Amino acid sequence: MMPQMCEGRVVIVTGAGNGLGRAYALDLAAEGACVVVNDLGVGTHGESGATKGAAEKVVDEIRAAGGRAVANTDDVTDWEAGRRIVQCALDSFGGLDAVVNNAGFVRDRMFVSCTPDEWDAVLRVHLRGHFCTSRHAVDHWRARQKAGSPVDARIINTSSGAGLQGSVGQSAYSTAKAGIAALTLVQAAELARYGITANALAPNARTRMTETAFAAEMSRQEEGFDIYAPENTAPLVSWLCSAQSAEVTGQVFELKGGRIRLSQGWTDSPEIDKKARWSAAELGPIVRRLLDARAPAKPVYGTA
Ligand code: NAI
Repeated sequence: MMPQMCEGRVVIVTGAGNGLGRAYALDLAAEGACVVVNDLGVGTHGESGATKGAAEKVVDEIRAAGGRAVANTDDVTDWEAGRRIVQCALDSFGGLDAVVNNAGFVRDRMFVSCTPDEWDAVLRVHLRGHFCTSRHAVDHWRARQKAGSPVDARIINTSSGAGLQGSVGQSAYSTAKAGIAALTLVQAAELARYGITANALAPNARTRMTETAFAAEMSRQEEGFDIYAPENTAPLVSWLCSAQSAEVTGQVFELKGGRIRLSQGWTDSPEIDKKARWSAAELGPIVRRLLDARAPAKPVYGTA
């Protein structure tokens, strides 16, 4: 039998009761990982109780297939809950090797009608949700390294095309997902010294989050291949959680079906240097020259 990619690894997947997280948890367990299946069981817009028992169901599926998993139903935006999620991995499986930050929801609105509550809820679940669990995991890994144990740990974050190029009707969500891409760069730069890598995903999958807004596109097949099946993203997550990805950090992976690419982030146009301060009166034609020289921007989703 082939050795399994994640044998001996302990992985937390947040929001793993549905959609992409569920697919990651199942694949990780099939690859030999011990999985903490976290899910608060909320609805697509964060409505409490909407999918109660989702984490437990995924754990049942994993165990029925012979894998190892434990359920956790904590809220990833709660600081103390982050500590409990990490502790759950340590108590259940005796260690922790990777955190996959995946939990989240949307409250789509045009910017002109977005309420402060909607704005805060979306930023909270994605940004604070990415902070709490990882921050406790990093505490654990740093202490382990200081105690002389080798650390080969992973943080896998979830950005989105909405965060990388913007998406009409998703100002709060795009803001949060852009923040997560930036967070990934900083975590990669700061945490390498502790033996921790940080990478992010920008998936494209048919889940309850996307199946209404993008129904026609999400049901598309290519020569019998279901390009938007959430399972298509899972092998990359398993590889990133494994020891094999140790050299890769600070990357944002965009996936759609069998297509995989690295996002190259913000890039610079050619610059114009006056070697002195510009006056406001000079800047109109200078900005025009900059605009003419820049590479075309990717269109904001919903504008093309
Ligand atoms: P989903 O709605 O199927 O799954 C999200 C899960 O997160 C749900 O099970 C929900 O109960 C859980 N959750 C929400 N708030 C939570 C909290 N505070 N604590 C713990 N669990 C919580 O959605 P999907 O599509 O699987 O999304 C997963 C991630 O991928 C999200 O971060 C989403 O923004 C991102 N994403 C999804 C894309 C897609 O095409 N489906 C595209 C780009 C990003």
